[in-house]
Amino acid sequence: MKSVAKALASGKRIIVRCDFDVPVEGGTVVDESRVKKTLGTLRFLLDEKAKLVLIAHIGRPEKPDKGLSLVLVKKTLENYLKREVAFQDKLAINERAPINLLENLRFWSEEEENNQDFAKKLASFGDAYVNECFATSHRLHASIVSIPKFLPAFAGFNLIKEIEELGKILQSPARPLVAIIGGAKLETKLPVIYNLAKVADRVLVGGRLMFEADRRSLPENVVVAHDDIDAKDIGEGSVQIFQGVINQAKMIVWNGPMGVFEDPKYTNGTRQLADSVIASQAYSVVGGGDTISALNKFGLTDKIDFISTGGGAMLEFLAGKTLPGIKVLNSSKV
Ligand code: 3PG
Ligand code: MG
Repeated sequence: MKSVAKALASGKRIIVRCDFDVPVEGGTVVDESRVKKTLGTLRFLLDEKAKLVLIAHIGRPEKPDKGLSLVLVKKTLENYLKREVAFQDKLAINERAPINLLENLRFWSEEEENNQDFAKKLASFGDAYVNECFATSHRLHASIVSIPKFLPAFAGFNLIKEIEELGKILQSPARPLVAIIGGAKLETKLPVIYNLAKVADRVLVGGRLMFEADRRSLPENVVVAHDDIDAKDIGEGSVQIFQGVINQAKMIVWNGPMGVFEDPKYTNGTRQLADSVIASQAYSVVGGGDTISALNKFGLTDKIDFISTGGGAMLEFLAGKTLPGIKVLNSSKV
C-alpha cells in the first residue's frame, strides 16, 4: 500500500474518496469530526498543486434526498480549506475548478451495486485515486473497491494512521480486552459480535442491538443489556453490570451509542459508560460517527486514547477481517 505522500500529484487530478458521512439534523451538519480527519490529505494535495475531485456519501439514502446532499458539507470544506469548492449534482466535473465535490454517491444505486461502468465513469474524472475513508473500507462499493482498479491508487494519511493504530491493538491487545457495541446497524454488527467474542475477553452489547441479538446462541463472554428505558436506552441495571466489567478492563474498544443519546431523556446509558471508560485504567479506543458525536457532545473526546473514524469498519478490522478497500490498495499497480 502506497501513501498519498508518494503520489506524483502536481498538476494531476486526484480523486479522493473522502469520509463526509457526518450526522445531519434538519439540514445542518451536527458533528464535523470526520471531515476534519480528511483535511491533512486534502491540504497536502493542494500544496502539491493537485486538482481535487472529492467523492463521498452521507447516510443511507434509498434515492436522491435533499436532507442528505453533500452540498451540506461544501461550506464546511470551504471554511477549512479557504478555497472555493465547485459542487456537482450530476455525474460530471468542472475541469477548470481546482476542487470539485460530487453529490452523495449513494444517490446512484450503482455505487452500492458496485457497478463497473459507474466506477469507470468516476475513474475518468482523475489521474489517480486516494482512499481517505477508512470508515467505509469494509464495503464492496464502487468508489471503494472498483475505482482503484482503474487508476494508480494510494492511501490517505488518516487511513494509514487507522491501520497502524488498530493494527497494534489487534496484534497485542492489553487484557482484559473489553468491546462495547451499540447502535442500530444490525446487519453489520450482529455478525461482528461473534468474531469479536473470539478476540475480546468480554463483549458488552447495548443500543438497538440488544433487542435483536439472540441471547441463547451467543458465546458465553457476550453480555447483552437486560433492561431498557422505553426501548430507547439501556436501563440502570445494565449500566451497573457494564460498569463492573469496564472497571476491570485494560483495553476498551467501543462503537455505537447505548441509546438515542440525541434525546436528553435517553442520554444516560451512553453518558455513564463514557464516564466509566474514561475513569478506568484501560487504554480506550472509540469509533464511529455517532459515538464520536456523543463524546463531543459530552466534551469528553480529548480523554479517549484513540478515536477511530470507523464504526463497522473498525469492528471488522479488530475482528481480524481484511477490509476489501484496504486489500485493493495493496494490489494497486503503482
Ligand atoms: C459508517 O458510518 O460507518 C460508514 O460511513 C459506512 O456507512 P454504512 O454502514 O452505511 O455503509
Ligand atoms: Mg454512519
